Amino acid sequence: MANTILIGSQWGDEGKGKIIDVITTEHQWVVRYQGGNNAGHTVEIGDQKFVLHLLPSGMLREGCSCVIGNGVVIDPAALQKEIEEVEAQGIVTKGRLYVSDRAHMILPYHRLIDAYREGRATDKDKIGTTKRGIGPTYADKASRVGLRMGDMLDAAFPEMLAHRIQENNRILSSLGAPTVDEEECVDQILGLAKALSPYIADTVTLLNQADRRGESILFEGAQGVMLDIDYGTYPFVTSSNATAGGACTGSGIAPHRIERVIGVIKGYTTRVGEGPFPTELHDEAGEGLRKAGNEFGATTGRPRRCGWFDAVVARYAAMINGIDFWALTKLDVLDHQPVIKMCVAYEFEGRRYESVPASIRILEQCQPIYEEMPGWMSPTTEISRLEDMPIEARHYIARLEELTGVRAGIISVGPKRHSTFVIEDVYKPSL
Ligand code: GDP
Ligand code: IMO
Ligand code: MG
Repeated sequence: MANTILIGSQWGDEGKGKIIDVITTEHQWVVRYQGGNNAGHTVEIGDQKFVLHLLPSGMLREGCSCVIGNGVVIDPAALQKEIEEVEAQGIVTKGRLYVSDRAHMILPYHRLIDAYREGRATDKDKIGTTKRGIGPTYADKASRVGLRMGDMLDAAFPEMLAHRIQENNRILSSLGAPTVDEEECVDQILGLAKALSPYIADTVTLLNQADRRGESILFEGAQGVMLDIDYGTYPFVTSSNATAGGACTGSGIAPHRIERVIGVIKGYTTRVGEGPFPTELHDEAGEGLRKAGNEFGATTGRPRRCGWFDAVVARYAAMINGIDFWALTKLDVLDHQPVIKMCVAYEFEGRRYESVPASIRILEQCQPIYEEMPGWMSPTTEISRLEDMPIEARHYIARLEELTGVRAGIISVGPKRHSTFVIEDVYKPSL
């Protein structure tokens, strides 16, 4: 089995959770390597629906071991809550979930700073974060003042934590923002430290040992390429590397141990939060996609902005991540569109853009250049072979492959496990 990175290729919510769940049968390990509980990965199994924020989606496959890697930022309260929730749904976590001792902790003051900044921002500056404290936690990591999960096991942890609370309270009160109750916070985190300590491990060694034994690892990306802090629509991004490179730094597995990269991509585009989105639809077609695709945030419940497929974004994602093949999702959402558009390039001030420009001032003024294709106007959710897909849908897939230079290896036509099929000559479980 091949060590595989699976990433989101647009602005998140491409259906990563669902595809991870389908392909975990081939992997012994699933690793989250960046982001935090800003993510919301939905997996539907039978009539049960799980929305995972921090736990790798592999938790839902018996026999699969899971790691929350060093590149993830962890809110201990959110992790404990999620563990309790899945345990209540019959999922065993002890002995199969390992949390990196190097992962940084999201603490209550990080959430307060995130909420304060978002609340104070003008319409122009607002990022539309999930207010989970992600940005301030990664900022503390880079500033070398963060606390890590392993610190919870240190005898000096209460003093370390108290010191950080005091400093952040000084910052918060100077801003006129609410502060943290020091005693209450220390007590709460110490209680969580006790509950979570059985999960804390040296996951870098653990994963490398597993790799050496020949066990196969699946890296579960969160967010998407266009939300990556380096390659996304900065500053309207998240604060980590959601691209494939993040899998190595966020887990401690060396680049040459990775054998393939799967890009999850929707047959159209969505975005939650602020920032440029060239193919966004503000009309009934956009509303239609939101309704048919049930496009509401899995973490915050916010309506997702919807638009046509953007091949410029997809080509850019393929280039940066070395995507071997697409897992193309939510094609069924287009079942009732009489005409489907696909953006092939952008235009701004008479210039044609084939790749995503770095400047968001240019990107927000770029006009999409569209190709139109007839829709298939028939249901696809029960289809399980490419040959049985309506001819218009096959043309759509073929054109998407041509425009992006990447073949589709997995096709998803519904939220459930069975609404998925593979293209045999592209998708090879073992290399
Ligand atoms: P993630 O963050 O990339 O894991 O995606 P989300 O879970 O946030 O959003 C994807 C949504 O689409 C979830 O509600 C999934 O159950 C659903 N979904 C996934 N694949 C398909 C598909 O092929 N068709 C339809 N209709 N829904 C899908
Ligand atoms: P999954 O893994 C979609 C967006 C937020 C906001 C920006 C920054 O489910 O695809 P943050 O809280 O990270 O500082 O917010 O990033 N965002 C996501 N959008 N899917 C996600 O995760 C997201 N995680 C963060 O809406 O625009
Ligand atoms: Mg999501």
